Amino acid sequence: MALDFKPIDSLYEGLIAVIPAMFANATPVLARGRRPIDGGLKFLDGRRLLGDGKTWEGLIAGLVAGAIVGFLLALVLGEPQIAYIGLLSSIGAMIGDLIASFIKRRLGMQRGAPAPILDQLNFYVGAVALLYIAGFTITPIMFITLAIISGTAHIAANMVAYKLKLKNVPW
Ligand code: CTP
Ligand code: MG
Repeated sequence: MALDFKPIDSLYEGLIAVIPAMFANATPVLARGRRPIDGGLKFLDGRRLLGDGKTWEGLIAGLVAGAIVGFLLALVLGEPQIAYIGLLSSIGAMIGDLIASFIKRRLGMQRGAPAPILDQLNFYVGAVALLYIAGFTITPIMFITLAIISGTAHIAANMVAYKLKLKNVPW
């Protein structure tokens, strides 16, 4: 199948583009990180910049996992460009996750407090935004379709993590 990711306009291309982000997003909880990225730093409002839920170990584990998945997809599908897309997707996912925590702290929400939509879609919006900046634009219909798939995958992954006692809350 001929793949042209500029723009991302088929479900096949879309899934290839977001699957690395999904893995990047699901992996940090396994890392059991201890080193907060913000180093305990507080923002002007006196609250933590990001909080203890965002660690270096988690960030690196997520990036590595996403990059590996992108690389494997590239290998299996024989399309080197997919490794690059996977890397962008993973980096974007982690940036989206950090921005979401920054917003949550500014709203006075404790680490782990539920923020519907923000919790489920931060990684997806981050991934799509970085891909977009890099020239991999997306059609509106694919944006919505993949948002639904990504949000559902996030909910399912968190329920599994909760059942496995990796997370204290199921969101
Ligand atoms: N995690 C991590 N490093 C990251 C992201 C996540 O170590 N960069 C781990 C943390 O143990 C975190 C768990 O994965 O508690 C779940 O991630 P998430 O739900 O994003 O964090 P929350 O604890 O809910 O924190 P926040 O309120 O900031 O979203
Ligand atoms: Mg959370």
